[in-house]
Amino acid sequence: MKVIVSANSKGGVGKTTAAVLMAEGLATFNGQRVLCIDLDPQANMTTVLMAEDLREKLRKNNHTIDQYFLGAINANHATLKDFIARPTGHLSLGKVRNPGHVHAVPSATRVIDTDRAIVRRCADLGRELSSVRADLLKRLKADLEALSGQYEVVIFDTPPAMNIFTEVALLAADYVFLPVVPEDLSTIGFREFVGRVHSNNLLSPAAKQNLVIMLSKYQKKWLSHGKTIDKINGYAAALNKDFGVRFRLLDSEITHHEAFAQASEFRGKSPTFDTKYGKAKANAKAVAKAVWTAIN
Ligand SMILES: Nc1ncnc2c1ncn2[C@@H]1O[C@H](COP(=O)(O)OP(=O)(O)OP(=O)(O)O)[C@@H](O)[C@H]1O
Ligand SMILES: [Mg+2]
Repeated sequence: MKVIVSANSKGGVGKTTAAVLMAEGLATFNGQRVLCIDLDPQANMTTVLMAEDLREKLRKNNHTIDQYFLGAINANHATLKDFIARPTGHLSLGKVRNPGHVHAVPSATRVIDTDRAIVRRCADLGRELSSVRADLLKRLKADLEALSGQYEVVIFDTPPAMNIFTEVALLAADYVFLPVVPEDLSTIGFREFVGRVHSNNLLSPAAKQNLVIMLSKYQKKWLSHGKTIDKINGYAAALNKDFGVRFRLLDSEITHHEAFAQASEFRGKSPTFDTKYGKAKANAKAVAKAVWTAIN
């Protein structure tokens, strides 16, 4: 099982779009059974993957990711498996040749409250946050291990602001994919993110060697984007040297295309990868292929 985290402390750079594209691409073209886990209180990945009635039902029944972690802290017996939903209807990838699929653990707005409650509880009990984090990591790793016969790939979507759940996911990761828009402000976000997780020791040893920059919202015709890509390569080389990590650039960029923006609200009757990504399907396929190569 390969654990992938889509992350960047800059907002709106395409983390969710990339995470969903990776999941659907790996399921459709590589027959992978993929589990998506949404850690963002904005719950964008959940919204993209699940119809509203299913989301609402899961939220009401406390079947959201924060309740899993809360349960883990309270040492209850529910495991990650109990929080997995099998989205139906609009998520169906159509009649694909391979038997891959995408299942998901949803998020909800209250993730932000649960995160804060956990931090407060630690303080009240005089417990170090790092020890709670270590407990959650142990539990998550054991639960993922137990699911390794059912899923080949797990993809976490994360919020721009760090929360304890994201920290735990980064520590459990085999790969961290960082969508970066080739613009200066976005490169600041990615360098800050890397500096922060590195100095706080929040990256697993595997992830340190498997940091993948995905150029996102790329405009081929923009000279400024080309120039910034050169800078990004320079930053990556410097981070590799300074931090002993290994960054590489994904072979295919995600171009800036209306079809990617529309894909997040796509609700087709019998959707396939091609109908969902429409005019951007060739690009989406190339990205999915590059991701498959990067993790193999
Ligand atoms: N390649 C693209 N081309 C055009 N629009 C895009 C592309 N990628 C993402 N978008 C749009 O940009 C917006 C932000 O994308 P997305 O939600 O994936 O970013 P994010 O990094 O997950 O944001 P957040 O930090 O809020 O979680 C969305 O409206 C999305 O549809
Ligand atoms: Mg997002």
